[in-house]
Amino acid sequence: MNLLSEIKHRFTPALSELAKPQDLPGLLAMIRPAQDAKFGDYQANCAMPLGKRVGQPPRDLANQLIETVALNDLSQKVEVAGPGFINITISDDVLKRGLTEAIADRDRLGIKTASLPKKIIIDFSSPNVAKPMHVGHIRSTVIGDSLSRVLRFLGHQVITDNHLGDWGTQFGMILYGYKNFSDPQAYAANPIAELSGIYRKVRHLIDYHNSVAKLPAAKILLDKQEQRLAEFIATEPGEDKALAKKLKKDIKSLKSKIVSQKETIQSLSQTVETTETDRVLYELAKRHPDIAQKVLLETAQLHAGDITNKELWSDFMEHGMQEIQRVYDRLDIKFDHVLGESFYHEQLSTVVDELVTKEMARESEGALCVFPENHNAPMIVRKSDGAFLYATTDLATIKYRMSEWNPDVILYVVDFRQGEHFEKLFDVARLWGYTDTEYQHVKFGTVMGDDGKPFKTRSGDTVGLEPLLDEAENRALAVVTQLDDGKPGGPEFDAEQRKSIAQMVGISALKYADLSQNRTSDYTFSYDKMVELKGNTATYLQYGYARVNGIFRKGEVDIDHLREHAVAFEFTEEIERELALKLLRFEEALQDVVGDYRPNLLANYLFELTQTFFVFFEKCPVLKTEGSLRQSRLQFCDLTARTLEKGLSLLGIGVLQKM
Ligand code: ARG
Repeated sequence: MNLLSEIKHRFTPALSELAKPQDLPGLLAMIRPAQDAKFGDYQANCAMPLGKRVGQPPRDLANQLIETVALNDLSQKVEVAGPGFINITISDDVLKRGLTEAIADRDRLGIKTASLPKKIIIDFSSPNVAKPMHVGHIRSTVIGDSLSRVLRFLGHQVITDNHLGDWGTQFGMILYGYKNFSDPQAYAANPIAELSGIYRKVRHLIDYHNSVAKLPAAKILLDKQEQRLAEFIATEPGEDKALAKKLKKDIKSLKSKIVSQKETIQSLSQTVETTETDRVLYELAKRHPDIAQKVLLETAQLHAGDITNKELWSDFMEHGMQEIQRVYDRLDIKFDHVLGESFYHEQLSTVVDELVTKEMARESEGALCVFPENHNAPMIVRKSDGAFLYATTDLATIKYRMSEWNPDVILYVVDFRQGEHFEKLFDVARLWGYTDTEYQHVKFGTVMGDDGKPFKTRSGDTVGLEPLLDEAENRALAVVTQLDDGKPGGPEFDAEQRKSIAQMVGISALKYADLSQNRTSDYTFSYDKMVELKGNTATYLQYGYARVNGIFRKGEVDIDHLREHAVAFEFTEEIERELALKLLRFEEALQDVVGDYRPNLLANYLFELTQTFFVFFEKCPVLKTEGSLRQSRLQFCDLTARTLEKGLSLLGIGVLQKM
C-alpha cells in the first residue's frame, strides 16, 4: 500500500484545475508525510504557492481544496492549519486494512510492481583490474547492487553490467614493470601481491619524473607571484577608493594562489624526496628516465595485438580477476554481464569513423574531438598518436548497449570526480542520436579516514579491500561475543557459530555503513561506529530482527498458522498505530529510493522502523497478553520482521534468526 501516492492521486484532479500542467509535479511534491505526529499523518502544503498564483488567500484555497478532494474514505480527520497547511490523519480502518493485506502477501507485503516497467542498465563496480581495488569500489559495488535489487523488486527489467577497467594504461604500467623489474619467484609465489607491488613502483617512478620535470616551472611561478604581491603591497592607492578596493581584492586572491602554489611545490618536492632518499627506488628512477613514454608504448603494443603483451595481459587478467572475484564472493555480488573495456576494443575505430562521417568529430591539434555545446573542453575520441580513450570506449559501450538491449535508462554508479566526463558523454550520446534514453550519473563522494582525508593506510597506500573485510569481521566478532556472553541464560553459541555469525554481521555492517550515507556526500569511515548495537547500523537492524524471532521462539508461535488465521489488527496503544503507519510506509521508502537512486532512504526507513518497533516492544507486552490482542501484537511482530528482512535483502544484506 502506498498511502502517499494515493493521497497525491486524490489531489491531482483539483490541482490540475487550479494550476498549469508544468506546475503540477512541484505541487504534488508538496504533499508529504507529516514531520510531527501532532500535524496528522500527511501534510499538503500546496495551498501556499497556489494561493499566491491564483490570487486567493491560501487558507481559503486550502478549505476549498479539502471540500473538493475526495479523502473521506481514506482519512478520519482533515484540517486546515496555520497559513493554509492541510493536515491529513488516515483512518484507523484504512491502516488496519493495509496491514491485513500486507500480512497475507507472502512475497511482496502488499507492494505493487510499477505500472510502466522500464528497462534499466546499471553500470557499477567497474574496478580497474591491474590496480588494487580500493574502498571507493565498495561504494560503487554496494550502491549499484542495492539499486538493482530495489528496481527489480519494483518490477523493472534490470541489466547489471560490470564495466571493468581491463584495457587501460594501468596494464601498460604493469607490463613495463613486469618486463623490467619483476621478481619471477615472487610472481610465481603470489602473483597479485607482486603485480600490485609493481604497479605501485611504476606509479611512483612516473610521479617522480613528473615532479622533477614540473618543479622548476612551479618555483618560477611562485617567485613571480611573490614579486607581484610585493608590488601590490607597495602600491599607494592614495585617495582613489576604487583602486584601493581593487588592490585589496587582488592581494587577497594572490595570497591564496601563493598558498596553493606552495602546497603544490611541497607535494612535488615530497615525491622527489621520498624517491631520492630511497636508494633502490632512486637507482630504478635513474635507470628508467622515460618510463612514462615507455608505459604508453607498452599499452599501444597491447592494443595493436602484440603477442607477448597479449599473453602477459591474459595472465595478469586471470590473477586479477581471481582477486576481484574473491571480494565479490565475500560481498555476495553478482552481475548479469561483465563486459570490460577490452570487450569494446575492436569497435573503437568504427565508432570514431561514424563520428567523423556524421561530422560530429573533427581534428584539433592532431587529435579527433567532439565539441558538445556548453562544455569548456572538447571530448577527445582519438589522440594524435592514434590511441583511443576512456571516453571512446564509453561511447562504444553506449552503442553496444543500445543495439543489444535498447534500454530506457542507463545508470552509471561512479565516483563524483568523473562528473564532467559523464556530462560530456551524455551530451555526445544525445548528439549521436541516442535521445530516447535517460542517462544518469549516480555519483558518490569519497570515503574519508578519521583524519578528514581520503581513507588510506598509515603508509599512505589505498586500503586494500580484503583487509578491510577481515577487520569488519573481527570487529563484528567482538560484538557478537559480547552479546552472547551477556545472555541471561548463558552463552548460546560455540566458537564456530560465533565466527560464522560475525562474518555475516561484519560484511553487512560494512555494506550498510556505505548504504546508509547520503551518497553524494563524503563520509567518514569508522570501524567502531559500523558495528554499534544502538546506532544506525546493520547490526542494530539485524539485532531487531533476531529479537522478534526470539519472541516467536519463546512463545512457540507457529508463524504459518498465525498468518493464515490473521485477526483484525488492534490499536490499543498509540505506539501500535505509529508502528502500523511506519510499516505501511515501506513502499513510500522504496519509491523514494528509485526517485533519485538513493539507497540511504531505505536504510533510514528501516532504522526508524526498528526504533519504532523497540518502543512498541517496550510498551506493549506480547506474549503476556491473551486472545485477539496477543494475536494482533504477534502479527505486528511478524510484519516488522518480514519488512526488515525484505528491506535488508534489498540492500543486499541478510538476517539472522539468532544473534
Ligand atoms: N574503471 C573506472 C574506475 O575505476 C570506472 C568505470 C565506470 N564505468 C564507465 N562506463 N565509465 O574509475
